[in-house]
Amino acid sequence: MKVNKYNKKDFLDFVFNDKEGFLEKLNTPEALIIREFYPSEKIHELRNLCFDRGIISVSTWHPLKEGCPDYHRLHDNYPRAYVKQKFHAFYHHGYLKENEELFQYFSEIFELKNYLSDAVYSTKGVPLEKLVARINVHHYPVGGGYQAEHIDPARDFARIQTLICASKKGVDFQNGGVFGRMEKGGVKYYLDDYLEPGDLLVISPDIHHGVDPIDPSEPYSWDKNTGRWMILPLFVTSDYNWEDNIKPKQVS
Ligand SMILES: [Fe+2]
Repeated sequence: MKVNKYNKKDFLDFVFNDKEGFLEKLNTPEALIIREFYPSEKIHELRNLCFDRGIISVSTWHPLKEGCPDYHRLHDNYPRAYVKQKFHAFYHHGYLKENEELFQYFSEIFELKNYLSDAVYSTKGVPLEKLVARINVHHYPVGGGYQAEHIDPARDFARIQTLICASKKGVDFQNGGVFGRMEKGGVKYYLDDYLEPGDLLVISPDIHHGVDPIDPSEPYSWDKNTGRWMILPLFVTSDYNWEDNIKPKQVS
């Protein structure tokens, strides 16, 4: 697996001038890191807003059906999860009026996904329309926040995974973090080693990836604003019974 760094302009020029070349490169596979895609201050601001909300309000869950509000959930090895995981996730929905500014801020990412797909998907889609735009903020706390190794289904609306780094390895945490690899048992490429807050990480959804436990020797502290943070603007299918609803697949 190759890891290559780009600046924002070169990356966007590359993708918008050579769609096929870009997708080919991604599937060699290559992890692309785009430096300073967003200013780190804004990314920290969103991280802190979520963290504060997580402290003062209770963790809940809502199916992605009509009326689903924004919420946050402490995933804690839930036995029915498609992928075993332990982290705190904050969900923001594109159809909610109060999120207009947030989705506007990350619109370049959704435009990129739409450009790479065969259709144009709206970030304002509601659950009954099947496809919903979300901005997920993930906090993997120190003391063992993790996500088991898995493959995400590559779909027309998800040709690429776009992960915005919101923490710094060596400062917010010391060990563990997101990795990708060619196959099960292969060499793990720890991508946080290359990332700064505000950088965009682009990988193919169907490579083996996961998050190794964050500082597992420390006490599990979801109430501390340290650990590994990531922001994921993405399209997901709603929780009605769509027949082509493919779920992530754990491989470990
Ligand atoms: Fe994934």
